Amino acid sequence: MKSVDLVIRGGSVVAPDRIVQASVAIADERIVAVGHDDVMPPAQREMRADGLFLLPGAIDSHVHFRDPGYPHKETWQTGSAAAACGGVTTVFDMPNTHPPTGTREALALKLKAAERSFCDYGIHALLGDDTVGHLEDLLDGGATSFKAFVGNTFGNLPAPTDGALLEGFEKLAPLGIRTVVHAENSSIMARRQKVMQDAGRHDAQAHLDARPAVAEIEAIGRVVTLAEWAGARLHIAHHSAADSLFLLRAAKARGVDLTVETCPQYLLLNTDDILRLGGILRVNPPVREPRHNQPLWDALMDGTIDMIATDHAPHTPEEKTRESIWACDCGFPGVETQMPLMLTQVNLQRATLMDYVKWSAVAPAKAWGLYGTKGVIAPGAHADIAFVDMNKTGTLSQGRLQTISKISPWHGRAVQGYPVHTLLRGRFVMQHGRLVEDAITHGRSVKGVQAMPAARPRNQEHYSSAIVTPPAGVRPNAWPEGMLR
Ligand code: NCD
Ligand code: ZN
Repeated sequence: MKSVDLVIRGGSVVAPDRIVQASVAIADERIVAVGHDDVMPPAQREMRADGLFLLPGAIDSHVHFRDPGYPHKETWQTGSAAAACGGVTTVFDMPNTHPPTGTREALALKLKAAERSFCDYGIHALLGDDTVGHLEDLLDGGATSFKAFVGNTFGNLPAPTDGALLEGFEKLAPLGIRTVVHAENSSIMARRQKVMQDAGRHDAQAHLDARPAVAEIEAIGRVVTLAEWAGARLHIAHHSAADSLFLLRAAKARGVDLTVETCPQYLLLNTDDILRLGGILRVNPPVREPRHNQPLWDALMDGTIDMIATDHAPHTPEEKTRESIWACDCGFPGVETQMPLMLTQVNLQRATLMDYVKWSAVAPAKAWGLYGTKGVIAPGAHADIAFVDMNKTGTLSQGRLQTISKISPWHGRAVQGYPVHTLLRGRFVMQHGRLVEDAITHGRSVKGVQAMPAARPRNQEHYSSAIVTPPAGVRPNAWPEGMLR
């Protein structure tokens, strides 16, 4: 029998529907066998994983690695190091860099920066009025997907007009390309913020008061309408409010090809923490009142929300702790802390490890056309594996994070459950909790892996006959033949 590169023995492999004790054999970056210890091929290298769980490496649909443009906040190198140390093997980077990722030149700069990466990556290019005319060009240049900043946020990119957004969806639908939307209503928020500022409000709560849940409800309603009309694939970023879940449920019931992420901060933090953390917790959309937390968990459980992303959005301690809340930059790092935070919730029996794998790996892999190659530990897939110790306890400490911006709302939080090694396509990028420095150029684009067959054809008839049952022959969210579910 031909010898393979690595056999991992004694671990428990986690799939969305089962956990099995199995050994895993790896050759040429891919998993070649999963099964009983006795049937493993001979290997150059053997490793024991007794007591550890083997999870498909997490896929984070939403990170801001700031490169090019803001190297004092993060670089591709430090952001991807944080991913590797957090058990995250693939990230999708956001276009609010400088220059914004809306031209071939800017995209080339980003892809150049990403040549030094500890994780694999996709690039969300910018969908806006200035870019809608050359979306295919951006795809040719290496973009995997698009992002529309419908709600104003860091970078101050103008929200696309509804006309441009619809046109973008109409162009992307036949290509099957999914668009991420930051769904908040900019005009509501700009007006409210001015009212707060005129009233002399500078406290942390004023940020939330300027961005009420109705801004999210309105924006989701609008973008779902446009995407549904065009038959385009849509992804809602950082879903934050209980009040807008009904729109997601209704859209999914109608067969809209909609995927949704939420983030640990919306599940685990609330206004009590705003008082404690001030500008450190300033983020868009805002962390809301306690009443939102449990409905978001329920929505994950029932599939209304598909996945966990982090919105890793680093800013320096100086930028996060200014006197007025309006002067504090929005966002904070998260790609390295997501897994221990969520595993802690698994230990608290709020979800199973299988649920977690669904949210962290399976669902994002399916959303971005990677499933089968990523998001699963099975023969043929990339050997992207997070080795998890569910018993390891610790305290999250911002000083020890890989990010440049060592300030985190999670600082001081007790956790149980850590990724201890991370394997990216058969190569360790993190071992025993430490970055493997010389794996710095191992990461690569998922563009070559990604397959995004055409979305459901544009179907205004489907829209107007409205629409609880999709027309015959149309399976909601169907994956084409040959793509594993
Ligand atoms: C993000 C950032 O800093 O780039 N900030 C944030 O508050 N979430 C932008 C974004 O995702 O909205
Ligand atoms: Zn956003």
